Amino acid sequence: VRKVRVGIAGLGTVGGSIYRILKERGNEIEKRIGEKFIISKVINRSPQKYELLGVPKEEIAFDFDDLILNSDVVVEAIGGTDVAVDLVRRALELGRIVVTPNKNLISEYGNEFSEYIKKRKLFFEASVGGGIPIISLLQDYLIFQKVTRIRGIMNGTTNYILTEMSKGRHFEEVLKEAQELGYAEADPTNDIEGYDVAYKVSVLAGVVTGRFPGINSVQFEGITRIDPEYLKEIVRSGKKLKLIGELDFSTNRYEVRLREVTPEDPFFNVDGVDNAIEVSTDLAGDFLLKGRGAGGYPTASAVIADLFRVAKYKVLGGAEKFSVVVMKFGGAAISDV
Ligand code: HSE
Repeated sequence: VRKVRVGIAGLGTVGGSIYRILKERGNEIEKRIGEKFIISKVINRSPQKYELLGVPKEEIAFDFDDLILNSDVVVEAIGGTDVAVDLVRRALELGRIVVTPNKNLISEYGNEFSEYIKKRKLFFEASVGGGIPIISLLQDYLIFQKVTRIRGIMNGTTNYILTEMSKGRHFEEVLKEAQELGYAEADPTNDIEGYDVAYKVSVLAGVVTGRFPGINSVQFEGITRIDPEYLKEIVRSGKKLKLIGELDFSTNRYEVRLREVTPEDPFFNVDGVDNAIEVSTDLAGDFLLKGRGAGGYPTASAVIADLFRVAKYKVLGGAEKFSVVVMKFGGAAISDV
């Protein structure tokens, strides 16, 4: 049985859930695919998380290089684009496979990493739609089809807030609840002002066209300026208000818009933290995927699914060779490699 060493950077809502799942279900994975995924190293900004998750001392990395050099697959679950980009860049340069749920990073740096994405050395299923397998649908199953359009509810926090506000509850109160439930980002501005969906739209555009447009090419709005009276009126008329990401590949228009949806719309019954994404193709028509769009376990499950894809694509190997080289030359040579 081959051992695949997984290093996890960032033990927040998602990283912590990945850690737990791998510890609890590692044997299950081995039984099913004959490869053993073991956690080799983890690193987190605040050390309290180590205690909370019961991380043994020998698993705690000194720094990013320690994590990268002792892993075949590096999971970047730090978020944002400051240190996360440095980590991903370095891990890829050192021949590691990288898995990340970070939509900001893929949206804004996907073009720099496009060769790694193409060669399936950088995986990011969890970056869009939480537990919904939208990226692998596009990258694997639909690879020979022409995707003409994508529409989706792609932010769990705002869908949760809109659902609860439609029942007459107040914005602030529901936002706080969404944060407590682990749906919202550390800084919820990205969720409620529409940035989060814009990043996801950019990621999907990049997967389909091969070029990530970045959020400056996405027209977007959020949910902070909704008048409660207007919302009441929509509910009274039997409709719902939804924040929808829209990609039209015939015009290359990328948008995030608040839309009034009628009961006939496939998104009408997508409520709470659920996301749903509709993909239109030339050969097979429309697909509709619905599921948990945010939260630790749904998002972590998409990261674990990427670990399976690492095994499926048989892209491991470079890293092992590289470790030998690096070790032979010793720590000082690492930055020169
Ligand atoms: N904050 C995001 C959301 C997490 O609410 O959808 C999943 O990307």
